[in-house]
Amino acid sequence: MIKVKVPATTANMGPGFDSIGMALGMYNIIYAEEIEEGLEIIVQDGNKEIPTDETNLIYKTICAFYENINQKVPGLRIIQQDSIPHTRGLGSSAACIVAGLHIANALSQSFFSKEELVQMAAQLEGHPDNTTPALLGGMTIGAMNSKDMKYVKVHVAENLHFAVMIPDFTLSTELARGVLPETVSLKDAVFNTSRAALLTASMLIGDMDNLELAMQDCLHEPYRAKLIPHMDEILEKAKFYGAKGTFLSGAGPTLLAVVKNVVAFRREMVGYLDGLENKWQVQMLQADNEGAKVWINEELRY
Ligand code: HSE
Repeated sequence: MIKVKVPATTANMGPGFDSIGMALGMYNIIYAEEIEEGLEIIVQDGNKEIPTDETNLIYKTICAFYENINQKVPGLRIIQQDSIPHTRGLGSSAACIVAGLHIANALSQSFFSKEELVQMAAQLEGHPDNTTPALLGGMTIGAMNSKDMKYVKVHVAENLHFAVMIPDFTLSTELARGVLPETVSLKDAVFNTSRAALLTASMLIGDMDNLELAMQDCLHEPYRAKLIPHMDEILEKAKFYGAKGTFLSGAGPTLLAVVKNVVAFRREMVGYLDGLENKWQVQMLQADNEGAKVWINEELRY
């Protein structure tokens, strides 16, 4: 039996559109084992959003892996325990890709290295800002070219707390990418590159005073805000209640705030969000600095 534990991820961290992402302490757990034939997918807690046929993303990733190594996919039983909400900008698709790659790597005894899986995952998802931190943990800065993806992983300080505000509505990445402009002005490009550099350097040296400025973005948030009722107002409120920096998580609609005073912030934000027409839950999380873990027959492998 193979067990994989994969963290949620927040992509487009601040100004790092399609590049900077971070793993969070929220996890999906997936079990897989070979069976004689066919496919059996069991979804614990009966989550109806997860397909239990060949369209299941974990299974599709396993098939892509086996095609790559020119082997036939064995009969499989997959058990999914998902805590990462779907289509909310918290990397649920990346978690499936990462789980599928780890399962296929272990089942086929291919022994691809983590580094090789990082490259495969980024190619499969098309951008590296969810899959890389899901595999490695921490905050990762990735850049893709036609051949591969180069990245740096930064350990995220344990004293950083993230308020993860998750609404009851979904937003597909496809729709959220569709509202982005084809081109942007030099002014907007400079706005983001300067802040992305400031964010990276600040996280590296642990300077949290820069975060409010360093987490600003003008490449995707202003466009996607139109798809998320009250987004700007919520982020402003978060700053009013003491957030050090705020941003849209991935393609949304989840919103994140870097918070120092965890208990007071949560209480104030829950009070405010309860007054909006949509339901929002607020989870206080820390970064995960280790990334996905794999057990084979209960023995932790990596
Ligand atoms: N970087 C991606 C985007 C993350 O914003 O479209 C969502 O998959």
